[in-house]
Amino acid sequence: MSGQATSLRGRACIVTGAGSGIGRAAAMMIAERGGSVVVADVSDSGAEVAAEIMERGGQAVFAQGDVCDSSYAQELVDTSVAQFGSLDGLVNNAGILRLADSFELTTDEHVAETMRVNFQAVFSLSRLALPALEASGSASIVNTASMVGFRIGMPGHAIYGASKAAVVGLSMTMAIELAGRGVRVNCIAPGVVGTNFYVDEYLKEHSRAELEAGSASTLSAIPLGTYAAPTQIAEVIAFLISDAASYVTGQTLVIDGGYTGI
Ligand SMILES: NC(=O)c1ccc[n+]([C@@H]2O[C@H](COP(=O)([O-])OP(=O)(O)OC[C@H]3O[C@@H](n4cnc5c(N)ncnc54)[C@H](O)[C@@H]3O)[C@@H](O)[C@H]2O)c1
Repeated sequence: MSGQATSLRGRACIVTGAGSGIGRAAAMMIAERGGSVVVADVSDSGAEVAAEIMERGGQAVFAQGDVCDSSYAQELVDTSVAQFGSLDGLVNNAGILRLADSFELTTDEHVAETMRVNFQAVFSLSRLALPALEASGSASIVNTASMVGFRIGMPGHAIYGASKAAVVGLSMTMAIELAGRGVRVNCIAPGVVGTNFYVDEYLKEHSRAELEAGSASTLSAIPLGTYAAPTQIAEVIAFLISDAASYVTGQTLVIDGGYTGI
């Protein structure tokens, strides 16, 4: 990618959940555009992502751990500063989905787990990272929300939507409080993305035939006619991290192929 505004040269970023899907695509894109990436994931798949970035001549380091663990969160920040000299971008992307047949069948355990990973960890890592982000002088936090909980509800997704709505609410106030301190804060709200995120969870309780029937009806409701590719979401993350978005803060960008907007 050429062009001054979208260059990420010199920007050091943490991307959580970078071992697969949207996070992987974001980490690869940030590195391709000249940024350095702390590839963060609880799964060891992040090692391959960091290795691939370096094979292509980019800068990356893998740190494995659970974003809910505050000592791991501190390690991510320290790694960025020690290895790359700064922390300029934080992409809070790691997330989980726990489906239930309806909201009253959602277990307390799933509520706690979902809020811990999807919301609490976004808050905690952002707070821990703040001194390093402020030191950057021009930093950006991008939080991965969802169209669910921001624009629409979806059967089975009650607590997931609540966790993502909490992320949007948190981000709006963070954006105001941090505006004078050189840190922009925005969310992305993807629609349906072609990753294993939903599929793996759905297949725990349903057949592949049911999945395919549901997919056909979902696809017919998307005006652009396809699920998003992870790179299509990564493009927006890369934009929000870049100086091209220097006047954008406190926003939630919906990237859903028109699903909720048309
Ligand atoms: N796939 C979709 O349709 C969709 C739609 C809207 C929003 N999202 C959001 O996008 C984000 C990424 O989803 P994806 O589709 O790329 O899914 P994915 O499952 O491919 O990737 C999620 C990654 O997060 C990691 N992760 C999960 N819990 C973690 C933890 N506690 N600590 C560290 N890493 C952890 C996983 O190991 C995995 O590599 C999530 O926040 C999700 O809620 C996804």
